[in-house]
Amino acid sequence: MRLKDKRVLITGGARGIGLGIAERFIREGASVFLVDLREEQLTGAVEQLKKQAQSLPHGDSIHVHSAVCDLADAAQVERVAALAWDTLSGLNILINNAGIAVREPFTSIPYQRWLDIVNVNLNAMFLLSQVVTQRMIEEGIQGSIVNMASKNGLAGSSMLAHYNASKGGVVLLTQSMAVDLAQHGIRVNAVAPGFIDTPLDRELKKKEENPLDLTSRTPMRRLGTIEETANAFLFLASDEASYITGTTLVVDGGHLANAGEL
Ligand SMILES: NC(=O)c1ccc[n+]([C@@H]2O[C@H](COP(=O)([O-])OP(=O)(O)OC[C@H]3O[C@@H](n4cnc5c(N)ncnc54)[C@H](O)[C@@H]3O)[C@@H](O)[C@H]2O)c1
Repeated sequence: MRLKDKRVLITGGARGIGLGIAERFIREGASVFLVDLREEQLTGAVEQLKKQAQSLPHGDSIHVHSAVCDLADAAQVERVAALAWDTLSGLNILINNAGIAVREPFTSIPYQRWLDIVNVNLNAMFLLSQVVTQRMIEEGIQGSIVNMASKNGLAGSSMLAHYNASKGGVVLLTQSMAVDLAQHGIRVNAVAPGFIDTPLDRELKKKEENPLDLTSRTPMRRLGTIEETANAFLFLASDEASYITGTTLVVDGGHLANAGEL
């Protein structure tokens, strides 16, 4: 098992990639604390994960907890970090996965939406990571943080200026945290997925009048799966990546490599 007895906080864990990461990590022996805004889905996710844990031979040592929290609210972020820490008696791994996106042209973006997107995708990541790493350092825990970036944080695209800017910030925050925290034995990396088949992705597509063929420029000609994305988080979070910090691992079926395509 690659995460035996590790204690993991996962944001945005009620559905999509966050829930997939929780499932994958539990299979490797981790206990998880999920944080999300969606209360009903969070309750369902916890039930599902507890059942999954019970079916595993090592299930007795796996714990699943959760808390409803709006990560856009700094006071709630600080409270939930303390709650997760106390509930799991410390944390070894932080997965900053929660994120939101809205597609709209640059000139039509309301300032409040800019603030909301940057708040959830970037500001909450800064604050939660700061509170958790302060505690890791105090207690001498050599931890690992994996942040959710995106291929959109590495190259521009239309209709997503706020989202893309927030994800670009994630890439540089990841590098900068990695540099500052290496001396404490804390590694910080990011995953930059391309088009992954999730509820967020399907919601964005539904709103489009003429949905794009998202795979047309992707050499592998298909969407990625939640499991394929979760595997990248697992690798970076685990001791297998013990000499890797400050990197952003692209999981996009070759999409960015194909930037020169017409
Ligand atoms: N799906 C893709 O193709 C794709 C590609 C690249 C990056 N990403 C990133 O992956 C992450 C997860 O995306 P997903 O596709 O699984 O989306 P999703 O909408 O299915 O899941 C996101 C989760 O975050 C939660 N969340 C949103 N705002 C929150 C807040 N203020 N407080 C607490 N929780 C909140 C949601 O309730 C939801 O459960 C996001 O950061 C997204 O930007 C997704």
